[in-house]
Amino acid sequence: MNNRPADLSSAIPALVSPPALSAPRPSGESPPIKLGILASGTGSNFVAIADAIAHQQLAAQIQLVIYNNPDAPVAKRAHERGIAAHLVNHRNFSQREVFDQQVADLLQAAEVEWVIMVGWMRRVTQVLIDVFPDRMINIHPSLLPSFPGIRAVEQALAHTVKISGCTVHLVRLEVDSGPILIQAAVPVYPEDTAASLHARIQAQEHQIIVQAITEIGQN
Ligand code: GAR
Repeated sequence: MNNRPADLSSAIPALVSPPALSAPRPSGESPPIKLGILASGTGSNFVAIADAIAHQQLAAQIQLVIYNNPDAPVAKRAHERGIAAHLVNHRNFSQREVFDQQVADLLQAAEVEWVIMVGWMRRVTQVLIDVFPDRMINIHPSLLPSFPGIRAVEQALAHTVKISGCTVHLVRLEVDSGPILIQAAVPVYPEDTAASLHARIQAQEHQIIVQAITEIGQN
């Protein structure tokens, strides 16, 4: 049976298409916001942010990238773009708070204003939140509050949802909680695998993370 929801895109166009990117701030307005990127893995969202800045679609600058896995591809992608990348390996810390203090110290030394968690697969503690209160955002590959935590895409497929998506939200102590800033929805097809659905979601992530940073920079 072909139960592909053929009319889904026309039924929910506003959900499937995230808002268009805002125009860049004209020069002469407030200076670009200084970002610190936290990432654990591939770094495709980091690339989306860096490319938007390079193409002058986003008035921001990346002060540094912090990654926690020694072989995380995001480090190479940062170096290729001339952006500082620091490894803070959580395996070298016995307490989450001490790890977060090290992360906070690096961010502060780099004069970071906003912390952008893009695939940061560490639970944050109050230590980090206290240094950047209401100045940390996270992107997550589900329509929160559905499917927080790890393997969000697999969770969505296991529940046979018909619509999934991604969320950018302010960071709070509870994992993947906090006020939602932007969401984008995508259809889920019967033949989807975790990889195919995640790829569809990530295409939207790359837009809404830039949109979110644009908006926080304007406020
Ligand atoms: C993204 O899909 C992001 O939403 C997810 O990790 C991926 C990182 O991709 N984050 C979480 O699951 C956090 N709970 P990237 O390294 O290619 O940007």
